[in-house]
Amino acid sequence: MTNLVLNNVRKNYGATQVIHGIDMDIASGEFCVFVGPSGCGKSTLLRMISGLEDITDGEVRIDGEVVNHVPAAQRGLAMVFQSYALYPHMSARKNMSFGLENLNTPKAEITRRVDEAARMLQIEPLMDRRPGQLSGGQRQRVAIGRAVVREPKIFLFDEPLSNLDAELRVNMRREIAALHRRLGNTMIYVTHDQVEAMTMADKIAVLRAGRVEQFGTPLDLFNRPVNRFVAGFIGSPAMNFVDGVMGEGQISIAGDMSVALDHPRSGVRAGDAVEVGFRPRDIVIDPKGPLTFEISEVEQLGSESYVFGTLAGGQTITVHQPGQTDARAGDVVKARIDGTGLFVFRADTGNACY
Ligand SMILES: Nc1ncnc2c1ncn2[C@@H]1O[C@H](COP(=O)(O)OP(=O)(O)OP(=O)(O)O)[C@@H](O)[C@H]1O
Ligand SMILES: [Mg+2]
Repeated sequence: MTNLVLNNVRKNYGATQVIHGIDMDIASGEFCVFVGPSGCGKSTLLRMISGLEDITDGEVRIDGEVVNHVPAAQRGLAMVFQSYALYPHMSARKNMSFGLENLNTPKAEITRRVDEAARMLQIEPLMDRRPGQLSGGQRQRVAIGRAVVREPKIFLFDEPLSNLDAELRVNMRREIAALHRRLGNTMIYVTHDQVEAMTMADKIAVLRAGRVEQFGTPLDLFNRPVNRFVAGFIGSPAMNFVDGVMGEGQISIAGDMSVALDHPRSGVRAGDAVEVGFRPRDIVIDPKGPLTFEISEVEQLGSESYVFGTLAGGQTITVHQPGQTDARAGDVVKARIDGTGLFVFRADTGNACY
């Protein structure tokens, strides 16, 4: 079993630092997801772990051993890319066995491993086809198979599903999760899709501009985001935010409205500027509610509905309703926010106040 530790890892490209000192401890067998907006450094960090990119400063340790100067091929890791990176002129079988042949693995052993991976990934009937004769999902399975046969200590995935359509993504997501359960390896998976992160991860690292904003279980991040950025990134549809001013037991928001707090918050005082966050399921259309809400758009999905609109102060928000709704665009209705679902963030730092 294999654990991975990052100590104050930094990366400079010329004079520009893009990774600013990352510390992380990924336990043996853990499925860890790096998530964050485009350009935040997810791929760079993964490539530094894999050995494809050198490390400007800090340490990467695999099972306690510093691997900064260990070549990629000797780190015992296997990487799966967004673009699959299959050889177009080789069959699926050859793509999967090629790396092992280069390592002079005995022929019988190669056949055993490739057959086993093909069975596991359900691509046995496709093994004689070339990549051009496979669908996107099938190609991605071959690319995963090529990683599996190397029997790596750690699997690294860089947005492996982003070229697939929505339905296939959901299927492949489940297959990768099942692969993890079966093999029990440490896996690091990069995505900017927070639904993938929530559903697959044991632990999520939320990155922003080369720093880790928060590292924890999916529900830690959802229930107790450390700041506004994490709160806005984790959860679908995204959390609503409105500007406010802290009062005693309540927060005033624009449009002469206030929201009640169910408990006092630390790190913030009456008079401080704050941002109030609440999830779309924690605001309820209610004729007796204190907020005035003008509906601009309604999405009926059958078993749930989304109602979009603005509060009297002009703040745009989303309301999630279970089931179907009789709300209509143009209606002006009353709403209330469930005080137990309220998040308070300092306007200056964005830090959450609990
Ligand atoms: N070879 C390079 N030279 C200079 N800057 C680079 C190089 N590679 C990446 N960068 C910069 O480093 C930062 C991080 O890039 P990276 O590819 O790691 O982002 P990412 O989080 O994977 O984004 P995406 O979600 O778009 O794949 C970006 O600002 C990028 O422009
Ligand atoms: Mg990337």
